[in-house]
Amino acid sequence: MSRNILVTSALPYANGPIHLGHMLEYIQTDIWVRFQKLRGHACYYVCADDAHGTPIMLKAQQLGITPEEMIAQTAVEHQQDFADFQIGFDNYHSTHSEENKALASLIYNRLNDGGYIKTRTISQLFDPEKEMFLPDRFVKGTCPKCGAEDQNGDNCDACGATYSPTDLKSPKSVVSGATPVLKDSEHYFFDLPQFKSMLGDWLESGALQDENANKLKEWFEGELQQWDISRDAPYFGFEIPNAPGKFFYVWLDAPIGYLASFKNLCDKRDDLDFDAFWAPESEAEVHHFIGKDITYFHCLFWPAMLHGAKFRQPTAVHAHGYVTVNGAKMSKSRGTFIKARTYLDHLNPEYLRYFYAAKLSNRIDDLDLNLEDFAQRVNSDVVNKVVNIASRTAGFIAKYFEGKLSDSIANQELLNEFQQASDTIATHYEQREFGKAMRDIMALADKANSYINDEAPWKLVKEEGQKARAHDVCSLGVHLFRILMVYLKPVLPAMSAQAEEFLNDSLTWESTKVVLIGHSINKFKPLMQRVEMDKVNQMIDASKENLTAVVAEAPEATETAEQTELQKDPIADEIQFDDFVKVDLRVALIAKAEEIPEAKKLLKLTLDLGGETRQVFAGIKSAYSPEDLEGKLTVMVANLAPRKMKFGVSEGMVAAAGPGGKEIYILSPDSGAKPGMRIM
Ligand code: MSP
Ligand code: ZN
Repeated sequence: MSRNILVTSALPYANGPIHLGHMLEYIQTDIWVRFQKLRGHACYYVCADDAHGTPIMLKAQQLGITPEEMIAQTAVEHQQDFADFQIGFDNYHSTHSEENKALASLIYNRLNDGGYIKTRTISQLFDPEKEMFLPDRFVKGTCPKCGAEDQNGDNCDACGATYSPTDLKSPKSVVSGATPVLKDSEHYFFDLPQFKSMLGDWLESGALQDENANKLKEWFEGELQQWDISRDAPYFGFEIPNAPGKFFYVWLDAPIGYLASFKNLCDKRDDLDFDAFWAPESEAEVHHFIGKDITYFHCLFWPAMLHGAKFRQPTAVHAHGYVTVNGAKMSKSRGTFIKARTYLDHLNPEYLRYFYAAKLSNRIDDLDLNLEDFAQRVNSDVVNKVVNIASRTAGFIAKYFEGKLSDSIANQELLNEFQQASDTIATHYEQREFGKAMRDIMALADKANSYINDEAPWKLVKEEGQKARAHDVCSLGVHLFRILMVYLKPVLPAMSAQAEEFLNDSLTWESTKVVLIGHSINKFKPLMQRVEMDKVNQMIDASKENLTAVVAEAPEATETAEQTELQKDPIADEIQFDDFVKVDLRVALIAKAEEIPEAKKLLKLTLDLGGETRQVFAGIKSAYSPEDLEGKLTVMVANLAPRKMKFGVSEGMVAAAGPGGKEIYILSPDSGAKPGMRIM
């Protein structure tokens, strides 16, 4: 029976590039979708950019463009990345779209009519300069518990305490550096507690993985809270109907983006009906794939919102764990924060698709991308096992048998075993146990290879009267390879397409039941190159460089011009205050100053920013000896992108004045200033 299935992946934020952590989710979802399609089901995979919210608004401001311009640019980049990783979306849209605006208003109005929206005045930190309310992560200050400086608005990195941003001592707005003030404002709330019994049923509905169902039970034992769904202007989002100056919080309209993208698809196609998927009585399936960090939104708020607004519930929410690289959180300095694009510049996307498939289960465990393991796994499984079956048999078929497969089956038992694996492998795919599916497939590949080894067709072709046998053996090798390519098609779509070309056949799941007796095949071309560790290492290096704006010119040249030209320089063009505050000037203690014998102009400084230290190469050797500097306070640009220089990475710049040579004067603050203080 053919099923109607709508599938989504979480909508990536439009303020950053796609990285290999994200890719786990899109690859996992895409494999499942391709599997469903291969089985002949009507399956639709939709996604969108998540385009609203404060971070996106501020990032666009920083770049000096409108949020619309920024999200348009990101949309192109995201979709190019996904396409190159063979993610086969049926539709990719944006939450900043007409469809989403209409659906968000519809859902809100229905919730409001149902009595599920409440208003109340709350007091929040407000940036008096930027004239905006500050989300928690845009406030920093001193931890109320342990006194550590420069801590986030909601928790302290030093002692782990959690608190509200209003508890911070000497709080500062991250946006302007101003001291925030408390300000009242009316907010709109979604009354989640009214959905307690509905959510109780949802919990038992089988829609959730056990781990998530248990987590949900814990949340249930505590009290469900009303959810704040409004934000005050300025905010990049949709204005709430009949509430001027109030906007939907980004997480209100984000999941509605699933509906909006699907609506957009339905409008483009005659054969798709939105209500058939979303009306309460719909028999279609709806599956959401998400990361573990966004479970609360998808397993509590979202089903309640849908229910309150008279839409159906999702069939299932499938959560996955987090990707670590080489055993640790992805890190920009280690070069393990790898962008999708950087990966694509160096490596074949199907390596990663296979590796993730081999590691994935239907549980919420984290997944380590160990890069040695990655190379080894892909090479030993895909290249040495699967591709090998075809490459060692195809040549003989072409050379001795005019590219035609034989008319008989050399080993019916072996063939049966390959065909009979179909149900188990299908069940693994269906249950998102991709690792198990890959293990079964590779065990079959091992059998095919042993069979070919034992029969040794390269000897048979040379033996008197054994040529027909060699033909049968090699033909069976091709039949077995073809079945494996069916099983691998959801994971390796590009390689399968090449294999289809070679096999002169198009593969669906049903293809396993048919054997191509006497069939003509095409010339075999290598299907996949081995992963080279060199390329992997280049990718890591490039990921480091992404962060450190590399100075391509002669490294020492960068230390010259500035100072010598200064005096003749006219005052620079006028800038706005916003431009000025982008430069984060800090008081820094010169903790250490070191000679670099080979450098003509540079000294190596270790600067202390009140806890954080930075290494800076400063072109002041002609005017200072290291011992003059140690212990001095100076002023540094703390948010300058790191630069790779001849002697190391420079992580900032110290402020100095003068024409150059002996006449360079580093700036020092007045007494009383402390390392780390911001200069405004
Ligand atoms: N915009 C929200 C989702 C809204 S859905 C209505 C969001 N965006 S995100 O860009 O931060 O993340 C998109 C998806 O990628 C999420 O499911 C998230 O869990 C997943 N991942 C982001 N980093 C990840 C890893 N390092 N590892 C695995 N998945 C990761 O959240
Ligand atoms: Zn603390």
